[in-house]
Amino acid sequence: MTTLVTPDLDLRASWAEAVEEFGERDFMHGSGLWDFDVVDVSPEGAPALIAALLAQADPATPLPEGRVHCTYFWITDGDEFVGYLALRHSLTPWLLEEGGHIGYSVRPSRRREGHATRALALGVRRAADLGLDRVLVTCDDDNDGSRLTIERCGGVFEDARNGKLRYWIDTGAPAAGDE
Ligand SMILES: CC(C)(COP(=O)(O)OP(=O)(O)OC[C@H]1O[C@@H](n2cnc3c(N)ncnc32)[C@H](O)[C@@H]1OP(=O)(O)O)[C@@H](O)C(=O)NCCC(=O)NCCS
Repeated sequence: MTTLVTPDLDLRASWAEAVEEFGERDFMHGSGLWDFDVVDVSPEGAPALIAALLAQADPATPLPEGRVHCTYFWITDGDEFVGYLALRHSLTPWLLEEGGHIGYSVRPSRRREGHATRALALGVRRAADLGLDRVLVTCDDDNDGSRLTIERCGGVFEDARNGKLRYWIDTGAPAAGDE
């Protein structure tokens, strides 16, 4: 069953496998790890990475100019890490144009099993918990997997800007992928 959980050291081993699997070529959307020069997922390095991710959800944490608070989730299936979902609490001008509120990725070996669709539906619920009435979710115009994920979750297409398709999801409406 697909769940969204708070990043946790208990998932470190399958997380580390997934990071290896994504490799250099496959960008880990929604991971928050692009902020780090070194992504050390070893037992020694992982605690600091996880702590830094969790801190970004706390409104009391000061952030650099142009950044917004963000709750990072890990997508799991049972006790296995299968992907990332980031829920940004607000939009900057760039996020409104292109980035959106929610970003996600699923590890390559677990794609096309419905995890992204179910995770996005769960992420929309978490957005409602944050008080957001609707969320912006975007994807590249040639990313069919992400586009279908958004559409399955009730995304209403607004427009395309700079190669990004922009959809709004009403957080109060039930989504097809919702469980
Ligand atoms: C996009 C991504 C998150 C989809 O994850 P997933 O778990 O495979 O998605 P789902 O299994 O929920 O599939 C959702 C729909 O997209 C379809 N789909 C998934 N990957 C697809 C692909 N590569 N090409 C065409 N359709 C695809 C599925 O068949 C499904 O359609 P259906 O509802 O008609 O059956 C995943 O491919 C990924 O991590 N890609 C790299 C990161 C990325 O692009 N993130 C999104 C940034 S906007």
